[in-house]
Amino acid sequence: MTVSRRAVLGLGAAMAALGSLPYYAGAVSRPALPQRRTPSASAPDVTVNLLAKERRVRLFGKPDFPVWSYHDDILPIIRIARGSRLTAQFKNELAEHSSIHWHGIRLPNAMDGVPYVTQPPVQPGDSHTYSFTVPDTGLFPFHSHCNTVEQLGRGLAGALIVTGDESRPYDADLLCVIKDWRLDENGNFIDFTEDSGAAKAGTFGTLRSVNYKQTPMMAAPAGGDVRLRLMSIDNSRVNLIGIRGAEAAVIATDGQAVIPFPFTTWRLGSAMRLDLCIRMPKPGQTVHIYDYFAPEPVLLASITAQGPALQRGAFDPAPLYRPDIAEPDLANAIRRRIEFSATAKPTPNLIELPGGQTMNISDSLCLSDKTFWAINKETWPEDGHQRLPAPLLNLVRDQTYLFELVNTTPHMHPIHIHGHTFLYLRSNKTSLPPHYADTVLLKPKERIEVAFKADNPGDWMFHCHIIEHAETGMMSILRVT
Ligand code: C2O
Ligand code: CU
Repeated sequence: MTVSRRAVLGLGAAMAALGSLPYYAGAVSRPALPQRRTPSASAPDVTVNLLAKERRVRLFGKPDFPVWSYHDDILPIIRIARGSRLTAQFKNELAEHSSIHWHGIRLPNAMDGVPYVTQPPVQPGDSHTYSFTVPDTGLFPFHSHCNTVEQLGRGLAGALIVTGDESRPYDADLLCVIKDWRLDENGNFIDFTEDSGAAKAGTFGTLRSVNYKQTPMMAAPAGGDVRLRLMSIDNSRVNLIGIRGAEAAVIATDGQAVIPFPFTTWRLGSAMRLDLCIRMPKPGQTVHIYDYFAPEPVLLASITAQGPALQRGAFDPAPLYRPDIAEPDLANAIRRRIEFSATAKPTPNLIELPGGQTMNISDSLCLSDKTFWAINKETWPEDGHQRLPAPLLNLVRDQTYLFELVNTTPHMHPIHIHGHTFLYLRSNKTSLPPHYADTVLLKPKERIEVAFKADNPGDWMFHCHIIEHAETGMMSILRVT
């Protein structure tokens, strides 16, 4: 594969203005990704019914595994064209309140699905309609944002694929949704969180799955170029994705195109996505997808090459269209340092109700009553009154911000911003090309610079996506006005 590792997003001038820290392979130069020729054609709007409840299904060797899902198809996949309107009629038939968060979608704040912040939680038996147009192509998870450690832990999630980014069709399009389950040897759920995990790397699952199946075997045309969309919806584990048996190139991160570059491995934290183009081998041969973050590589899924071999010539993966995200104005960016740390300060999570009683905010905000983590020394919730903590930062609408994300802990944190998408610029530890990401993985002691234009007004959550970390303090609000 011959690609220029330097031409990444076409941010030459702006990047050059930055100077200072070294980053990926020197300068970034134009030209860049192909531009979509036409504004998206009029494609049909999509309406879905999502009914959250426990469903008893044959899964993981049990005839009646109690999965929590939005649909009888327990891992629903919604496909919609960019620019179309998605309407999701949500009904909550769980015994506890819930919501749907559309992770990574730059939607209006009221549709973001965060209990108390953007909407009241949807009570058992109640319904709520989400409706918004999808501005960006790519792959996005949607999931509960309430009691998430348990609701997501029990499977309450889905995948949203926004189409319209392919400059050349691929020979196949495969989705791998990666999630572990916390089960005992009889296949019954065990505690979703333990303090020993929550205060460290997270409480890991005991059983791996891809698309809610153990080591599934997929198929694709032999010799073909396959678009492989990988997404983690795990509560905590960071997978180090590796591929054996095929040449592969990265074509998108968190759904957003990059100039294809050779794939070696990639750390995929909770809610992160990676699109690869892989060249399938000869008929009958198999490609293996591994997690290398383990003493022994763990096989996640396989793809068998089927049919007569396609003749595709030298491996030259088709690029996706250029993202539609506003380019940050790096020359005029306001810099903010944001530190992710552990905290020693246990916050009492008692709130005062209007009648004078108190209640544990852990129940109301679906949070653990322990705090282990902080952002700029603040833990969520910040104080003991019945109101949300003050925003971590007040951001000026349409201003570009450059965040220096600093991890002072010995653990990894996939840091997620709602309603916006970061441009990842550089790191003091990792050499990655600039790329878009709504969830940025901070390694231990790592310092990463990201930039974005704060062009979406509202109160937006900004948190670690290791769910237990968020629920034990590493969560905050960014206010854009
Ligand atoms: Cu995918 Cu605030 O979350
Ligand atoms: Cu974290």
